[in-house]
Amino acid sequence: MVNPFIATSKTFFKMPIDQTDDKVILTSSDGKNSVTVLLYGATIISWKLNGKEQLWLSENAKLDGSKAVRGGIPLVFPVFGPPPKELADKGFVQHGFARVSTWELLGATGDNEIQLGLGPENVSDEKMKAAWPFDFTLIYSVKLDGEKLHTKISIENTDSKEFEFNWLFHTYFRINEIENTTVKGLNGVVVTDKVSKSDYTEEQDNVAIKQEVDRVYSSAGSNVVIQDGNSPLFTVERQNLSDVVVWNPWTEKANGMSDFTPKDGFHKMLCIEAGSVSKFNKLAPNNKWEASQVIQSHKL
Ligand code: BG6
Repeated sequence: MVNPFIATSKTFFKMPIDQTDDKVILTSSDGKNSVTVLLYGATIISWKLNGKEQLWLSENAKLDGSKAVRGGIPLVFPVFGPPPKELADKGFVQHGFARVSTWELLGATGDNEIQLGLGPENVSDEKMKAAWPFDFTLIYSVKLDGEKLHTKISIENTDSKEFEFNWLFHTYFRINEIENTTVKGLNGVVVTDKVSKSDYTEEQDNVAIKQEVDRVYSSAGSNVVIQDGNSPLFTVERQNLSDVVVWNPWTEKANGMSDFTPKDGFHKMLCIEAGSVSKFNKLAPNNKWEASQVIQSHKL
């Protein structure tokens, strides 16, 4: 991939970045906060504020590149959920190739910020590459900002043909107890409910999670708040991401996932996923699409 931001080693090393073969740890300049990004999937596997973990990561999540990471913030592109039949027939898998490809660290690009990139040459799954045969450049920016974590994606079509895509930040938040957790900011929003297999309009101000939940809220307002009782835990702010997926596997689905441990770990996690997934976005040649998520923790 052609690095649009080739950081000189001087620029690079003055930032508090610690890079190993498979991951990069960015520590804020005040030393208080950190984020760890696995190059595999550019998956954020840890976000700590004052040493306190904010994300949920399965105890036996595979971090060796053998499987998409169960926890943290996997990235979903170019297809959300099961792929359309014509792609599935060619070996395309759920949630696409971005989370199962090894990204390149492009370098430090500002205060407390790093960027990673992905192009077709980084996609090792030959079947998926052949099924989605476009040239593209993804630039992913991750920035620590006090009690906030900014993640931004830029998708550029460098092909001569238009392509279609979904994008999603599949964030696994670490919560205190699911049975005491509610989600605010979804009232009045149209829901596609994959568990009850129905569509309806949300009527609750505070959406409780008391069983398996797998819903796509389309065109939700810009802020969604995860609450512990009546106290805010996290605020999720979105730009150019119309949809919010709410997912908790609960008992049976957690039992069915080999990489989900402990099995009662669903009590401690909730996925609130900011995305553009209810329809495919079209991107013409030489055009760019950008979107971002800012998550703020109130747990301090
Ligand atoms: C959510 C989907 O985004 O991801 C769910 O809405 C899915 O349907 C979940 O089960 C986890 O997906 P995966 O592929 O990581 O097991």
